[in-house]
Amino acid sequence: MTTLQTEFTEAELLADHPVAEPLWAGGVRCHGGFTDDGTYVSPRTRNRWPAIRAWEAQRVEQFGTPVLDVPLETWPESFPSVEQSAFLIRNGVPGPTVSSLTRIGTVEGFGGMLRMLPVPDLQRCFDEDITGTAIAHIDHGLFEAHARDECGHGDLAGHDRMWFVARDIAFEQPVTADQTRRMLARMGLASGGRGPAGRSGPGTAPRLLPGDIDLQLEMLVARMIGLLLIEISAFHSFRWAEAVLGDPDLVAGDGEAGTLVSYIRSDETPHVAWLRTALSEMRDRTWVGVDGARHAGTDMVGRLWDRSLAESLGARRQENLAFVMGEVVDAVAGRPDGDALVEEMLSLGTVVRRPDGSVVDPEPGPPA
Ligand SMILES: [Fe+2]
Ligand SMILES: [Fe+2]
Repeated sequence: MTTLQTEFTEAELLADHPVAEPLWAGGVRCHGGFTDDGTYVSPRTRNRWPAIRAWEAQRVEQFGTPVLDVPLETWPESFPSVEQSAFLIRNGVPGPTVSSLTRIGTVEGFGGMLRMLPVPDLQRCFDEDITGTAIAHIDHGLFEAHARDECGHGDLAGHDRMWFVARDIAFEQPVTADQTRRMLARMGLASGGRGPAGRSGPGTAPRLLPGDIDLQLEMLVARMIGLLLIEISAFHSFRWAEAVLGDPDLVAGDGEAGTLVSYIRSDETPHVAWLRTALSEMRDRTWVGVDGARHAGTDMVGRLWDRSLAESLGARRQENLAFVMGEVVDAVAGRPDGDALVEEMLSLGTVVRRPDGSVVDPEPGPPA
């Protein structure tokens, strides 16, 4: 048996490392900070990282199964790509990049709603003991820490504002509040608060699991899988943003905006890690229906996983392509060279425009 500590209080999971220097960016005090030697440390990771590692070690000891995973290459690259963004910026069209950064920050802020998700009595949902697991800590520190990372806590800015700060450093305060409102309306996010998860989340989706599985459990797991897939696929956005915002020949700020994004990226690693472990713990267990019937966790998690992955690669990707293309067309409207700019931009990436103006990923070609 593992001798590592596997039970933590909420206060422990929310505790910070001591830092020698806080993180300030664009005049905003952000979460996280730096040790004496200048290393960046993410917020609330003093015990959260050791806890996640201990839960994962214990899970492997008890069940011997591989952790749930899906490689980043499962998702296509960012649209616009680094080359496409650079091309547009150099041609005096920063708008679509500004919009993408605003969208990322807005969606990050929706992460704060995690803490509002109802969590059923989880021990009752599984046959095996859940003492000292990530499952047992979901509503005892893990959701709260995650929510605070995404939308800030107290006076400290979290990821939502940090993305806006990165945007404002790189493009020197590019948008007014009014422009932001109209941009969010174009994204379908104007009503605020609901977020993409509310639009296509399990609340509106038909049930996938047997009727005797607690609906709250199904909704919780579906939301956690959706979140994990967003967190993993977002690493494409980080690569893109770090490359574009870190290029001093392209944007303002001497690379500071790109560095800020790299801090956000390192804050995301514990998000991916705890979600993978908690979902693997659920997959490894036997699920108990409200009447006591038993169901294999591999089957329950597998069904929700397949639906979520299909959505992420299908509808979500399509929405994103359509949004970005709309922003590009909007940004060049009225320029005599507008059409030529759009054509040349598209030639620098893989996304193709169909005769009706819609944009899609290319069909995979026949094997070479
Ligand atoms: Fe985040
Ligand atoms: Fe995250």
